[in-house]
Amino acid sequence: MRFIGRLAQIVIALVGCSMLVAGHMTVGVFQAFLQFIYEASEPMTELSFTFNSLQSALASAERVFDLLDEPEMEADPLPVAAAKLPGKVEGRIAFEHVRFGYSPDKPLMRDVSFTAEPGQKIAVVGTTGAGKTTLINLLMRFYEIDGGRITLDGVDTSRMNRGELRQQFGMVLQDAWLFDGTIAENIAYGCPEATREEIVAAARAARVDFFVRTMPQGYDTRVANDAESISQGQRQLLTIARVLLNNPAILILDEATSSVDTRTELAIGRAMDALMRGRTSFVIAHRLSTIVDADLILVMDHGNIIEQGTHKELLAAEGAYADLYLSQFA
Ligand SMILES: Nc1ncnc2c1ncn2[C@@H]1O[C@H](COP(=O)(O)OP(=O)(O)OP(=O)(O)O)[C@@H](O)[C@H]1O
Ligand SMILES: [Mg+2]
Repeated sequence: MRFIGRLAQIVIALVGCSMLVAGHMTVGVFQAFLQFIYEASEPMTELSFTFNSLQSALASAERVFDLLDEPEMEADPLPVAAAKLPGKVEGRIAFEHVRFGYSPDKPLMRDVSFTAEPGQKIAVVGTTGAGKTTLINLLMRFYEIDGGRITLDGVDTSRMNRGELRQQFGMVLQDAWLFDGTIAENIAYGCPEATREEIVAAARAARVDFFVRTMPQGYDTRVANDAESISQGQRQLLTIARVLLNNPAILILDEATSSVDTRTELAIGRAMDALMRGRTSFVIAHRLSTIVDADLILVMDHGNIIEQGTHKELLAAEGAYADLYLSQFA
């Protein structure tokens, strides 16, 4: 559209030029002529801009309607009817013949069962797309299962209030995020009543206290998620401090694959160990070296658990896990 407008402008200007040269037009009239062409083509250019924004508005509207068409999330039971957890959550989790698919016509999990005892370290391994994240999504009830049962301390999670269920979990994910605020506020996220002493104690336990003290205003330094002054490793340590402060019964750790220097990696490893002590932990592991000591290893493939046991048992079984392990260390 804009191109056509410009082209018309040029063609008419050329016609004017030739008339000027042929003597049919004075210089003054030619000047006025050019001015008129400019005025006339302006609305055309504007029209092209309008056309552009109209197109992006249509594309956005399509997405808005897609979202509106999404099926409604199943409502939580009323507070009086919701199943309650015992006062002190121990963190025993059981999957009993769980069946699930993201869409009804494409089942993914067919029959998944396992039990995590309080305080155990559960490692989840498998190739990409094997269903590791899906397992965690079901545990936190981001999706409803199609069959079977998931229990926390014996209580069916589908009968619980989602908010109460999710309060029991702490997560440290690959892409640690910080929000616009001070370091102290970032650590105290989810625990606004925490005192400065508690925040510092959590940072110490996460081995990030030293780093925070090197910042211009210490714990009161403002940061943003895109702050370049904080490395990916330090970010992860800050989120570990955050989870420590919240003190959840169950942990979900998605190991970082991004490269951090060896010293930071060691610090993260130690902080994670401190974090896991006394809590049921689910570790999505990318390096098998870190899960040799797990109490239970779940080997996933195509949505299902194809093997489970300790490192020793699985090596002795000479199955998929043994192959995976040997391929990483051979
Ligand atoms: N929101 C979704 N909607 C539809 N299908 C999905 C969705 N999320 C995952 N899937 C599919 O479910 C399967 C399991 O995916 P999942 O994300 O659990 O794998 P993963 O083991 O976590 O993989 P990775 O190691 O790459 O993180 C894959 O085939 C994936 O395409
Ligand atoms: Mg995943």
